[in-house]
Amino acid sequence: MLEPAGRAAQIEPFRVMSLLAEARQLEGEGRDIVHMEVGEPDFITATPIIQAGIEALQAGHTHYTAATGLPQLRQAIADWYGHNYQLDIAANRVIVTPGASGALLLAFGALLERDRQVMLADPGYPCNRHFARFIEGRVNTANVDASSNFQLNATLVAKHWNQQTDLLLLASPSNPTGTVLEQNQLAQIAEQVRQRDGQLIVDEIYHGLTYDGFVAPTVLSVDEGAIVINSFSKFFGMTGWRLGWLVVPERWVAVMDKLAQNLFLAAPTVAQHAALAAFQPETLQILEQRRQAFEQRRDHLLLGLKRLGFIIDSPPRGAFYIYADCSALLDKETPDSIQLCQRLLHEAGVAVTPGVDFGQHGAAHHCRFAYTNELNRLDEALIRIGDWLQQR
Ligand SMILES: Cc1ncc(COP(=O)(O)O)c(C=O)c1O
Repeated sequence: MLEPAGRAAQIEPFRVMSLLAEARQLEGEGRDIVHMEVGEPDFITATPIIQAGIEALQAGHTHYTAATGLPQLRQAIADWYGHNYQLDIAANRVIVTPGASGALLLAFGALLERDRQVMLADPGYPCNRHFARFIEGRVNTANVDASSNFQLNATLVAKHWNQQTDLLLLASPSNPTGTVLEQNQLAQIAEQVRQRDGQLIVDEIYHGLTYDGFVAPTVLSVDEGAIVINSFSKFFGMTGWRLGWLVVPERWVAVMDKLAQNLFLAAPTVAQHAALAAFQPETLQILEQRRQAFEQRRDHLLLGLKRLGFIIDSPPRGAFYIYADCSALLDKETPDSIQLCQRLLHEAGVAVTPGVDFGQHGAAHHCRFAYTNELNRLDEALIRIGDWLQQR
């Protein structure tokens, strides 16, 4: 019998998916579970986008587009950089992809040489290291914690960079921590990478979802040579449509175009037409209301979790996650966050993701709470966790 190829066998499944399956099973048995493990907006896609999708289908837009995307969508994304960040980006530098996942595949496929390294923060988005493995590149893991706001900085980058490192991938706001890099921090990191002839890639998928009146700066405002990964999944609420994009320096366009042609031909056509409606004022107004709802949930959950004894030293300013230190809640029967999440699911009916899904550093005493659920359900979760902690 043929065994799975090493590059596939060494990719770990998401623990959160088995947690979700367990939660669904409990629901099947009649239990009520509060879901705080899900990393996608609970809102369905905004009506103007859905409408534009329906109209695209009715108009017969069911064929492939160019591999780099619909020209008018590439232009609309380029214009978004003007509107949002006052940056003049040429539309031919924008490459439309099947989600940020497709963008990561193109970026790693084009830039990560076999056995060369990409530097990644731990904790971080787990698929990054799996994409690197799939491409047969290597990961240079740099641990981050509350002392650096769960982000890399210029000092850490300089410390961890070595002769094998070619790429640095950051995420701001980050998954799982929701922490954000300031413009001067991005500039200092970019300088370190430039000095080492490396390539900086920044995953800006949670842009738009920032709080306290703060707008996350794009790396493009401090480094023209950086590569940006973004998506319609999170702020634009289009996870299931599978649409994202890259902004790349012109010299990278041709190779990415060639890879896109071969790996997936093009991003979904209907989704691309629908996304043209994402930038309309009417849609942006809906998305702003949703952002405000997320902010209210974050404030509420932050307070509630701290009251329960979770330690949150680097409060999130973006995304929809709280990465909480649960050390104070561990005991002999519940020695780590995996056990804690198991018990919270089975005994309290609350689904939370253990830190181990996002790496190893500090993972045993961290959990990720996603506030992709309504305020009253978050309240219910806080009550259930509080009761469980008292009774166990
Ligand atoms: C940091 C980060 N990057 C990329 C992705 C992939 O998103 P998508 O492929 O839906 O655009 C996710 C999804 O959760 C994410 O959290």
